[in-house]
Amino acid sequence: MPSPRWPFTHNPKGWFMISYSEDLEPGDVIPLHVFEQDLVLYRTESGRPVLLDAFCPHLGAHLGHGGKVEGEELRCPFHAWKFNCDGQCSEIPYTEKIPPKAKIRPWEIVERNGMIFAWNDEEGSAPEWEIPEFEEASDTEAWTEFERRRWQIRTHNIEMAENAVDSAHFKYLHGTRNMPQSQAEVNGHILRVFSDAGMTTPQGNVDGSIESMSYGFGLSVVRFSGIVDTFLLSTMTPTDSETIDVRFNFKVKRLAGADITRGVGKAFINEITRQLEQDRPIWENKRWVKPPILAEGDGPIGVYRKWCKQFFPEGTFDKLEMRVHA
Ligand code: FES
Ligand SMILES: [Fe+2]
Repeated sequence: MPSPRWPFTHNPKGWFMISYSEDLEPGDVIPLHVFEQDLVLYRTESGRPVLLDAFCPHLGAHLGHGGKVEGEELRCPFHAWKFNCDGQCSEIPYTEKIPPKAKIRPWEIVERNGMIFAWNDEEGSAPEWEIPEFEEASDTEAWTEFERRRWQIRTHNIEMAENAVDSAHFKYLHGTRNMPQSQAEVNGHILRVFSDAGMTTPQGNVDGSIESMSYGFGLSVVRFSGIVDTFLLSTMTPTDSETIDVRFNFKVKRLAGADITRGVGKAFINEITRQLEQDRPIWENKRWVKPPILAEGDGPIGVYRKWCKQFFPEGTFDKLEMRVHA
């Protein structure tokens, strides 16, 4: 639903994270509110995750509240109708006659990197790309275990993702030594931003480079290489009409000593968290400016905004003058 703060849908198309794999055991049933919709997520006894619209087509019970997994299927708590993984009603315990329309909408989902993602497109397209498997995500020998953080932020995906290409804010909002020199490249749904930036940590300044890869708006990976290598897998999922559920998952490359790794990891996480807390009041109160007035040194915001267009219905930005003035 459009809001006065951004004159376009809050639900761009793409893959969005809806649960950690480990939070959904076989037999678990979870109610979800994402993409401004009520959904039910469950895991079958054989281990397959399934996402369906929440409301039973019979008399409207929410299957996420009291629904029970039976084998590969989900039974409604109200009158015990049973639905299969495609959302089709497979059994009504008190009649043989199953109404042909007794079906719930199934969602496309995929389980990868220890997370479950749902494809969302308001226009109903099938998934248009695949989520990669990240080597770092499963490697606990060379890398530490994931350390997680989570926020609910009152903003739009398009505002959060612009952070990576907005060079000037790193210095003036976050207090980094310099404005990073960033290059942005687009490859279909992937945006790669490479910066030669250093990072200021409580231990002092660390030189290094930052590569950020965004796979649509829902998932991005940031690799920071320097004295230490760090890996940040972040997911950003729209929930209600103006909130994003943000999850950051950090890893640090193991160094010689466990204590050093722990210390560096902590400093890195604290720094990224500090930056996010500085960004938050900006994101929660700003509005989308169309078109923005840009100045030399602002970073590759024009490249970024062109990349964004593909995730919105055709023509969304034509009337909004997506071009940028430099
Ligand atoms: S509401 Fe689900 S079986 Fe009646
Ligand atoms: Fe920022």
